[in-house]
Amino acid sequence: MKELTPEQLQANWQEFLDNINNYVEEPRKAKLLKFYKDREERFLFMPASGNEAFHSAYPGGYVEHVNRVTKAAIEIMAMWSRFGSPLNCTDEEVVFTAINHDLGKYGTDEQPYYIPNPSDWHRKNQGKIYENNQALAKMQVPDRSLFLLIQQGITFTENEYIGIKTHDGMYDEANKYYLAGGFHWSQKLKSSLTYIVHQADMMAARVEFEEWRDNYRDGADNKVSKPKVAKQVTGAEKPLSASATAAFDELFKTN
Ligand SMILES: [Fe+2]
Ligand SMILES: [Fe+2]
Repeated sequence: MKELTPEQLQANWQEFLDNINNYVEEPRKAKLLKFYKDREERFLFMPASGNEAFHSAYPGGYVEHVNRVTKAAIEIMAMWSRFGSPLNCTDEEVVFTAINHDLGKYGTDEQPYYIPNPSDWHRKNQGKIYENNQALAKMQVPDRSLFLLIQQGITFTENEYIGIKTHDGMYDEANKYYLAGGFHWSQKLKSSLTYIVHQADMMAARVEFEEWRDNYRDGADNKVSKPKVAKQVTGAEKPLSASATAAFDELFKTN
């Protein structure tokens, strides 16, 4: 299992708070910072899922996941814009949605959503590091994210509401109303926010799964993870084969 050092946990927490500070405007900023700081100890050590084969099922995994989603969402938003999307959402809305999309995994002040699995067998053989706390009411994570924000008197826009609620995209049947659109343009979402945050979440979860698969599977502990960056293949690096060169010359010879 991935184990973060106290310094890494602290740095991740600082990045999390910085995102709020840098992107969220008052009066929500102060409320959001107070909510998270008051619960710092729980948030610092929360996992992002219960099963190793899902993603980030280790202490500190939640903040790492949310930071990754936030960072990805900012870049993906810029990419959508470059590809011509009018976006119809603001930077603050995208970051607010990313920061709070999985907040429901907090549970309640009294009951955490994930509790360490007492069964060593299940931890070792099935990767079930945490189990879902049965003491909590039956409520989907995105709904609980919104519920917690409402409880704190933290307001959100329509874009943010829809973005948090539907961040699992079509993996969740309940989102069909929002995403399966009708034939008329007015039945489609007005903003690209949901697609941006969903893409960011999918990519982050996949990368986290790959990190576990390649570094910590089979009980491997704290093996240094070396991120592999896809090699850019350019024409200069990949000379044409002799036959391709001959064909090129045949086509474009000037003499
Ligand atoms: Fe989620
Ligand atoms: Fe997520």
